[in-house]
Amino acid sequence: AATAPSQPADVGEVEALKGKRLVVLFGSNMGSAEDFADRTLTTGKGFGMVAEKHSLDKLVTAKVMLPKGEDGLVIVVTSVYNGQPPDNARRFAAWLDTPDAAAAVEGVRFAVFGCGNKQWAATYMQFPRTVSETLESLGGLPMVPMGEGDMDSGEAELSFTRWQVSLVVALLQAHGARIPDGIKETLYPKLPVYSIFHKVDAKAEEIPVATLEANLQEAKRQALRTFLAGNQAFLAEVSCNREQLAAPDRSTRHIEVALPDGVSYAAGDHLGVVGGNPDEVVFAYMDRLGLARDAVVRIELEEGSSSSTVPLGRNVAAYAVLAYHFELQQLASRAQLYALSKLACEPAEAEHLRTLADFGRDNSGEVQGGSPDAFERYVLQSRRTLLEVLQEHPSVEVSAGAVLGMLPPMKPRYYSISSSPKHSPGVATVSVSVVQGTSPTGRRHLGLCSNYLKAQACQKSFPPSVMPSLPGGPSGKGMPLFTFVKDTGSSFRLPQSDVPVIMVGPGTGVAPMRGFIQDRVADGRRENVLFFGCRDESDYLFKDELQAWEADGSLKLFVAFSRKEGTPKTYVQHLVEQEKALMVELVMKGAHVYVCGDASKMAPDVKATVARLLSEAGHGEDCVDRMAAEGRYCEDVWA
Ligand code: 2AM
Repeated sequence: AATAPSQPADVGEVEALKGKRLVVLFGSNMGSAEDFADRTLTTGKGFGMVAEKHSLDKLVTAKVMLPKGEDGLVIVVTSVYNGQPPDNARRFAAWLDTPDAAAAVEGVRFAVFGCGNKQWAATYMQFPRTVSETLESLGGLPMVPMGEGDMDSGEAELSFTRWQVSLVVALLQAHGARIPDGIKETLYPKLPVYSIFHKVDAKAEEIPVATLEANLQEAKRQALRTFLAGNQAFLAEVSCNREQLAAPDRSTRHIEVALPDGVSYAAGDHLGVVGGNPDEVVFAYMDRLGLARDAVVRIELEEGSSSSTVPLGRNVAAYAVLAYHFELQQLASRAQLYALSKLACEPAEAEHLRTLADFGRDNSGEVQGGSPDAFERYVLQSRRTLLEVLQEHPSVEVSAGAVLGMLPPMKPRYYSISSSPKHSPGVATVSVSVVQGTSPTGRRHLGLCSNYLKAQACQKSFPPSVMPSLPGGPSGKGMPLFTFVKDTGSSFRLPQSDVPVIMVGPGTGVAPMRGFIQDRVADGRRENVLFFGCRDESDYLFKDELQAWEADGSLKLFVAFSRKEGTPKTYVQHLVEQEKALMVELVMKGAHVYVCGDASKMAPDVKATVARLLSEAGHGEDCVDRMAAEGRYCEDVWA
């Protein structure tokens, strides 16, 4: 039986494009923009173009010459973080303002695709748009309007494919080339396929734990190269893991990691953590793919190019590969559905999968709806994962190696550090809100990293159900956490002076504020104001510490309760409004304002309130924008 999908057809080389240069530039912290960039590279190479890829900063540092006019095409795929360029696009952003840029860009044909998250409403597409507009104002020639992918919507894939089809069509038309049939199929990403060799003579429990763990850590180090970007990864012991809430149905963990010698951070930085998939999901995959729980396998690349997270060519526990190397809980993608449609033995299942995957008809370059409704209902609204698709289409005969090729690599998660090294050297703490829920299909969803962290203190790297004979047992020490410090740089740092600090941090948004207060108190800086928001006493995080700082005069504390019995529903911005005289006075003294927490509603609401109050006090409607430009209004927000 066919167990690996045949790859999307190549339309082959296009005479008019052969030998033309394609320069693909990407700006990416988390890898998604780079994935899209890779796909444009593959498409261009398929047409016979001479294609190269660089980070946006590399363009500047390596002085890459851009092809002009008909000589080629420049594609920029970039994301944006809290309105800031990605880490590998900061020099490029500065370079755009220089005369060198004008000379390099004039007459260059270009296309830009932006990756953003609409929950960051205020800064969505800000950097990609700046790039697109600046390239055009410098005399660059846009081939197609800028594409926009909302990474939060599940439809970024579709937006990207539509944009790429329109670009390919525009490019072919510009060169007088015919639009090949079946062009749409070429635009599904090519998925790698792996072969899995079972080590029949080995069981996971018989390989020394140290070997398995060393393999795993090495693979993670490899996988994280792009995320680490100069930051040092380390294995940390969890030295404290305790519940912070007194609510039976919710959980927020206070987690403390010991830092090895030589690793440092500043208050306001993030801790990057590599988690693991829940056992129930890993085991369900093993069952569907016919992998025994104690199987030891060796993985080789059969087709395509391998993602760096796959541990190739060595003995690894199948459990570890699934638990630690891939994201198992993301929503199914059209590319996965398309690949599975070719492996379904039942015609009805094949047809269903094809319909779900379909982007619609093209030719004019417009990729019409096809059946976006089917995909939207079945995947986006119902939150179906690849595993659910596999379970609901039992006639799909797919090898474990082909499924590995369909899965996205594991990505780290970031948490705002809630401590200051001045208060507790050698330790970084985080507050982790544990994500749990039920999807519309009734699937139990356990947030990948938060549940992994919650279980850390006692979890073994390989659970007893996989390796009953491991020493230590369930109460043994956990496997060290693979972590790294992510420097937030100037975007979320305390001022190096005595100016006052105003902090707004509802929910776990209070985490970096605790670190800031520790830092300020250690420096003897006592003009600190905190607006904290919680539902009621049960989720009043760090209550004792905050009240102690208030009592000794190093903190002015205002707490908004939104669901406390006998108290009207109050949000942090309501208290900011009540304290407007204080806020305006401190801002006039040069205060820095910090906001941390929900990006979709809270942060914009708070910003609007502060802007209005400052404007009413006669400081101009753009006062907050000016503060932001000066680094005095700082946000650390998440979706
Ligand atoms: P709620 O859930 O009771 O509406 C931390 O999540 C706190 O932030 C909760 O008390 C929550 O209140 C509150 N919150 C929710 N939406 C908010 C908003 N738009 N602005 C400020 N606080 C908000």
